[in-house]
Amino acid sequence: MFRIAFILTLSFTIDAISIGKINNYIMIGTMNESLSNINQDQCICEMIKSNELISALNYFPTNQTCQLYFSNMSSIIIEYYSNSVFIFMNQSLISIINKPIISTSSTSSISTTSSTSSSSSSTSSSTTSSTSSSTTTTVTNIWSVTGTLNVGRYLHTSTLLTNTKVLVSGGFNGTIAISSAELYDVSTSKWTLTGNLNQARYDHQASILTNGMVLISGGNIGSSTCLNSAELYNSSTGNWTLTSQTMTSSRCMHTSTVLLNGNVLLAGGYNGYTILNTAELYQLSTGTWASTNALNGARANHAASLLTNGNVLVSGGYSTVIFILFTNNVVLNSAELYNSSSGSWTVTGSLNVARQYHTASVLLNGMVLVSGGQDGNSNPLNSAELYDPTTGTWALTGNMSTARMYHTATVLLSGNVLISGGYGSNGTLKTAEVYIVSNRTWTFTSNLTNRRYQHAASLLIDGRVLVNGGINSAAILNTELYHGT
Ligand SMILES: *[C@@H]1O[C@H](CO)[C@@H](O)[C@H](O)[C@H]1NC(C)=O
Ligand SMILES: *[C@@H]1O[C@H](CO)[C@@H](O)[C@H](O)[C@H]1NC(C)=O
Ligand SMILES: *[C@@H]1O[C@H](CO)[C@@H](O)[C@H](O)[C@H]1NC(C)=O
Ligand SMILES: *[C@@H]1O[C@H](CO)[C@@H](O)[C@H](O)[C@H]1NC(C)=O
Ligand SMILES: *[C@@H]1O[C@H](CO)[C@@H](O)[C@H](O)[C@H]1NC(C)=O
Ligand SMILES: *[C@@H]1O[C@H](CO)[C@@H](O)[C@H](O)[C@H]1NC(C)=O
Ligand SMILES: *[C@@H]1O[C@H](CO)[C@@H](O)[C@H](O)[C@H]1NC(C)=O
Ligand SMILES: *[C@@H]1O[C@H](CO)[C@@H](O)[C@H](O)[C@H]1NC(C)=O
Ligand SMILES: *[C@@H]1O[C@H](CO)[C@@H](O)[C@H](O)[C@H]1NC(C)=O
Ligand SMILES: *[C@@H]1O[C@H](CO)[C@@H](O)[C@H](O)[C@H]1NC(C)=O
Ligand SMILES: *[C@@H]1O[C@H](CO)[C@@H](O)[C@H](O)[C@H]1NC(C)=O
Ligand SMILES: *[C@@H]1O[C@H](CO)[C@@H](O)[C@H](O)[C@H]1NC(C)=O
Repeated sequence: MFRIAFILTLSFTIDAISIGKINNYIMIGTMNESLSNINQDQCICEMIKSNELISALNYFPTNQTCQLYFSNMSSIIIEYYSNSVFIFMNQSLISIINKPIISTSSTSSISTTSSTSSSSSSTSSSTTSSTSSSTTTTVTNIWSVTGTLNVGRYLHTSTLLTNTKVLVSGGFNGTIAISSAELYDVSTSKWTLTGNLNQARYDHQASILTNGMVLISGGNIGSSTCLNSAELYNSSTGNWTLTSQTMTSSRCMHTSTVLLNGNVLLAGGYNGYTILNTAELYQLSTGTWASTNALNGARANHAASLLTNGNVLVSGGYSTVIFILFTNNVVLNSAELYNSSSGSWTVTGSLNVARQYHTASVLLNGMVLVSGGQDGNSNPLNSAELYDPTTGTWALTGNMSTARMYHTATVLLSGNVLISGGYGSNGTLKTAEVYIVSNRTWTFTSNLTNRRYQHAASLLIDGRVLVNGGINSAAILNTELYHGT
């Protein structure tokens, strides 16, 4: 049994209670009361009786203890045991904040074999989500169609907001860059337009800041004209505002990573003329942009991952090699680490397979899973690799069943990784597969309802995955939810 305790202090005020997420486990609130010798149903009744003063419960089947939690809106104290059950009362009160959680006690290594079941009800006012390592519930892995976008789009971004809505921004419709943005409301399953971007763009990047704002940076307006503008979305007003300064460089096909100190690192990309080795920081406290050290090599279409030690791992991508009479694009197997304290880049182990348009997911055990992508001959890849930050090396892990690029990868609450769609050797894919972390294998899950690539995916608070947009023969309006583990 693993004991986890941590405190998350909210540095900003929002309408909803924010929750932190650590590994598989989601907790909320300050413990209000601990009741002994009652069963789980009685515990739920106690929570309901409190008429929403209590936000959550944690039930321990081993000693029939019921813990009731509330939040004082400024601080969250969390205590959790891997064999307990955790239930939220009112999902609209809850949002995930994409913020590192400071552990106040040493935590044992977390079991990755636990499974998570989530259920939500649209007919009752309460939504429950339970996590238990001992659950025997089998959740069928399924997809279901949900709301339709107002504007079909691909090469857009999708971001879970602190108010539990999902924001999609910009993208391409097949003809022009898109300036609209839309919000998905989990409670109504509908998409509604929100404020327009100041600048239409696709192939841009989005990051949610620790103050709840969404920062989008760069992107393409067509004909490889890359932008040096960046915008901030405030979900209270639904407005986009340009950052007070432009970025130090125009960038598309770059990466954007929120560092542990709240600043945002933009790395590499393309400025419309050359592949970039430059990097810059959005400084949260001043809202300004500043150069940081350049990468050891230029790269675009790479991936970036925030490691648990605060370093940023960039992997693969492509670069340009200049020969005497011509230049040639090369797909990269190299990888580098950015140390955000020293601001320096160091080369780390190389991928076994050079790749661009791949995905990179930080697993709960701190390793990074890279999947698929495109090789140097423009073919999709089926291989996947694990980066071990403790050794700085990559190791091939099982092959996916289907070679794919332009797909999505989402770390599920169980810790497994969902891969959806993409472009394979025979065209657009509707297959999805899950990487099982415990035995490092891939398994097919049900097919998407819609073939798609260059789409986007966001993990919802209840553990479902919202896959949206993309392209098959045309930009896709359809969005769908994955209900599996
Ligand atoms: C628990 O919540 C109830 C209802 O808000 C309150 O009356 C009681 O004082 C709380 N108990 C503790 C220990 O905070
Ligand atoms: C029940 O078990 C949990 C987890 O082991 C522990 O934190 C809690 O104090 C126990 N409650 C009682 C009343 O023993
Ligand atoms: C909220 O709870 C935390 C932890 O107990 C405490 O430090 C903080 O002062 C509380 N804030 C308010 C406004 O009560
Ligand atoms: C959930 O909480 C929100 C915020 O307090 C409240 O507006 C809403 O009515 C609650 N929803 C239900 C279904 O009780
Ligand atoms: C893209 O949007 C523009 C402006 O709304 C429209 O004129 C054009 O037909 C759209 N292209 C496609 C392929 O839908
Ligand atoms: C968002 O807008 C609201 C209303 O204007 C404002 O109070 C809040 O400070 C803004 N949020 C941020 C993080 O600037
Ligand atoms: C910001 O949002 C408010 C409320 O939605 C709206 O009235 C206002 O016109 C918006 N401002 C800008 C500059 O878009
Ligand atoms: C970052 O660099 C500093 C100074 O060189 C070093 O002390 C620290 O250990 C590095 N951090 C990581 C996570 O590698
Ligand atoms: C993975 O796929 C590659 C080619 O696609 C193949 O060469 C390799 O043998 C496969 N590895 C395993 C373990 O099946
Ligand atoms: C692509 O289609 C061909 C012809 O139908 C088939 O033989 C081949 O197995 C398919 N390849 C993949 C990866 O699905
Ligand atoms: C890996 O684990 C999954 C889930 O427990 C199981 O379904 C699958 O059979 C396992 N595969 C292998 C090769 O052990
Ligand atoms: C999923 O799609 C693949 C490829 O189109 C197809 O071969 C397979 O039969 C489908 N699986 C199911 C369960 O429909």
